[in-house]
Amino acid sequence: MKKQIGILTSGGDCPGLNAAIRGVVRAGQEHFQMRCVGFRDGFRGLVQDRTLELTPKVLSGILTNGGTVLGTSRDKPHRMPIGGKTLDMTEAAVETYHRHHLDALVCIGGGGTQKNALRLKEAGLNVVTLPKTIDNDVGMTDVAFGFDTALNIVTEAIDRLHSTAMSHQRVIVVEVMGHRAGWLALGAGLAGGADVILLPEIPYDVEVVAHAIRRRTRAAKMFSIVAVAEGAMSRLQAETVAKLVTAKELAKKKPDRKAVSAELDEFHEKHVNHTVELTQQLEKLTGQESRLTILGHLQRGGTPSAADRVLATRLGTGCAELLSRDTYGVMVAARRQGVEAIPLEKVAGQKNLVSPEHPWVQAARHVGTCLGDQP
Ligand code: F6P
Repeated sequence: MKKQIGILTSGGDCPGLNAAIRGVVRAGQEHFQMRCVGFRDGFRGLVQDRTLELTPKVLSGILTNGGTVLGTSRDKPHRMPIGGKTLDMTEAAVETYHRHHLDALVCIGGGGTQKNALRLKEAGLNVVTLPKTIDNDVGMTDVAFGFDTALNIVTEAIDRLHSTAMSHQRVIVVEVMGHRAGWLALGAGLAGGADVILLPEIPYDVEVVAHAIRRRTRAAKMFSIVAVAEGAMSRLQAETVAKLVTAKELAKKKPDRKAVSAELDEFHEKHVNHTVELTQQLEKLTGQESRLTILGHLQRGGTPSAADRVLATRLGTGCAELLSRDTYGVMVAARRQGVEAIPLEKVAGQKNLVSPEHPWVQAARHVGTCLGDQP
């Protein structure tokens, strides 16, 4: 009897999602006697039972397309905004699963998706996940698809910013995606030869950054490129966050925890503008005209790189193979040239952050890049 497989994409989109969907469905249908049904717009589509039939026509030509034919959302089954309220819709998701007589549900997503998938596993569903994200911050996998494409986009942006920075003798600050993890800023900063790279994992001192820029000016290098991850923080800001996080952990009463949470949210809301402030500060401290470029969602759009197409196809077809062997409750991780099934309990909540000792960090320091922490 054919296995019935559901599939959805969840969280922020990224290049390679369509390649992964195609990989799961093609391998599933052609080699492992499966029938696949897609759910639209992430977990919301599962809860509301909105499907997309994954016919050969739907799959045809999508390998090279960005985005996801299934649509996506950041909705969580257990906390879904519905009619002005936030409701636990886990039961509805379970009902849809059974209504379609599914043998398993494939959830393609980032860190949040891994946690949501684990909750559905605990609710009794057979779930398998695939790691995607341009931030490359999903734990327990060598890499997530989407990252390589974004790395190329950001590197090209830095390359292009060089000539205009040089012509005008300016400091150009370029804001790169990555709230918690600085892989994109670090990788593209290395590849594009940024003069300063600021990461969430290494709090910076703006004086140290200004000093590095002034040193370049004295060496007749009249422009500088500063690659900043959106989650990068000054030492002071990092201390404030650390204090609030500790206070939240220590708060015994619910209202106290809520108050600290609100303070943390407020901090993060204001922090959205930090690259604007950083650019102004650098102009003041260096006396050099400065400009800010925010790359934003450009980094998530468009056609996937060859490496991401290969990775997503590897993971997608590997997923179909695992499903055929009744392996459930796992993430299909990229391990060297192959794939590995990692239990969701080990994946959920694990973040792949840049270690200050990582070889990429050492390489950046060795070529003289300022990371904002050491003069
Ligand atoms: O996909 C991850 C990510 O790109 C983060 O780096 C970024 O902060 C976030 O998504 C923004 O996504 P959205 O605006 O779609 O919520």
